[in-house]
Amino acid sequence: MGMQVTWPVATFLKSPRLDLEPVRVDHAEEAYPWLSDERIHAFTGGAPASLDELRAQFRRQAEGHSPDGSQGWLNWMIRHRTGRVVGTVQATVTRGRGGAMQGDLAWVLAFEAQGHGFAREAAGEMVIWLMGNGVQRFTAHIHPRHKASKAVARAIGLHPTINVVQGELEWNNDDS
Ligand SMILES: CC(C)(COP(=O)(O)OP(=O)(O)OC[C@H]1O[C@@H](n2cnc3c(N)ncnc32)[C@H](O)[C@@H]1OP(=O)(O)O)[C@@H](O)C(=O)NCCC(=O)NCCS
Repeated sequence: MGMQVTWPVATFLKSPRLDLEPVRVDHAEEAYPWLSDERIHAFTGGAPASLDELRAQFRRQAEGHSPDGSQGWLNWMIRHRTGRVVGTVQATVTRGRGGAMQGDLAWVLAFEAQGHGFAREAAGEMVIWLMGNGVQRFTAHIHPRHKASKAVARAIGLHPTINVVQGELEWNNDDS
């Protein structure tokens, strides 16, 4: 018994300035130097992962779903056309009431790569692809004072709600 639940599988995506590569274990070496930068953890909290922790994390993410299958895990590394990995975007996909898929979104850009519209560009590409793959509802959880992240959310069609989850405001694309 039990329903077989499957999730979209992340594929290679391209936007004008960026390539989005489905995350692999060997991305850890390229991501570690800038992901361990304290400055990008200001609003999200938590300590940066070690290289080994990052490898384990990327290995889990590359599976494409949580161990129990209840969530789809879609993670992309953002590679600028110059060849440098500059960030990551992710969607955690679940099924809501009625079985419709929804994606909880997040984005992180290397400190040095911020302010060039890369987060908007990558998140936008991800959302278009997710919509094409059956994900209709989107959420994001953002610190109320995190201007850059709020601007990214707005740019991809989300709006703030009144729901606070662990100090972060929920944004979504529900009709209001
Ligand atoms: C949030 C984050 C991904 C934005 O990345 P980015 O590539 O610099 O964002 P973009 O260049 O696409 O800019 C998006 C918007 O933020 C604005 N912005 C960028 N940096 C800003 C800053 N320091 N202060 C205010 N606004 C800023 C841009 O002007 C742009 O606004 P616009 O759409 O009105 O023009 C990046 O700041 C980051 O990685 N922060 C650390 C990790 C994190 O907190 N992630 C968010 C978890 S929800």
